[in-house]
Amino acid sequence: MKKSAVVLLLAVTMAFTGCGEEKDASQNADTSADEKVDLQGGESDTQSENRTDLGEDANAADANSDVLADGVLNVGTNAEFPPFEFVGDDGEPDGFDMALVKAIAEKLGVEVQVENMEFDSLVASIGSKIDIAIAGMTVTDERKAMVDFSDNYYEAVQYVIVPADSDIAQAADLEGKNIGVQLGTTGDFIVEDIKDATASQYNKAVDAVNDLRNGRVDAVIIDKNPAQVFGEQFKDEVKLFDGESPEFGFEKEYYAIAMPKGDEALAKKINDALAELKSDGTFDELVSQYIGN
Ligand code: ARG
Repeated sequence: MKKSAVVLLLAVTMAFTGCGEEKDASQNADTSADEKVDLQGGESDTQSENRTDLGEDANAADANSDVLADGVLNVGTNAEFPPFEFVGDDGEPDGFDMALVKAIAEKLGVEVQVENMEFDSLVASIGSKIDIAIAGMTVTDERKAMVDFSDNYYEAVQYVIVPADSDIAQAADLEGKNIGVQLGTTGDFIVEDIKDATASQYNKAVDAVNDLRNGRVDAVIIDKNPAQVFGEQFKDEVKLFDGESPEFGFEKEYYAIAMPKGDEALAKKINDALAELKSDGTFDELVSQYIGN
């Protein structure tokens, strides 16, 4: 996307979300944004090294690193995506992502304040309602035009859930079908490319699964781990296909934390914390606690 288009898009987004605080405008209009987008393209493990050599970019970033100044990291999520985020018994968002972001915040010496919102609003809310978003969010080029991403922290792929007695068994069988998805997710984007298929879009993934059980949709396309949770929950009624299998051929996806565009200081802090949690074993502990295997 052209720089002018990015700026325009951000201006429109800010108008919509009603935000216009100085800090957002200066961050988002950062003219070096395009180069920073490119930095995200490489292998995730090399990104933090690149950032330490940014020279003048690093100075520019210092001016932007005020997100943590109040001691609170405002984190947006959509707690409809187990095991990464779900509403716990106490009514608060829980799950792998919540535990991970709290561990990151602890390293940064700040408190986490979680805002549970619609998945489709997260990216546009960064820099206004929320500082960052963690929501099993796949890194995509479209999103990278609006936000920066941390290093990847999890590999995923879309799965296909169908009724136990369904004939659907390969990508071609999805043509012309009514497919349940969570609005604005990569599963939703996949359906756009399936010939004659209709996307039934839900704010909550579980509602899509319930409509599958009720016979209102023919299939649900959703990320692997939530698919496995729902598949287990309704195991007598549904069956799952790994979208990465040759029958479906969906591409691998990578989850990362979405952050304000151009705030290199914040990105470095978050990536350094993530790297520490990986090397000290905390990350793996959280994986086994929340995701298993
Ligand atoms: N990985 C998918 C995406 O980025 C789905 C994420 C949905 N996450 C959620 N918390 N509801 O589009």
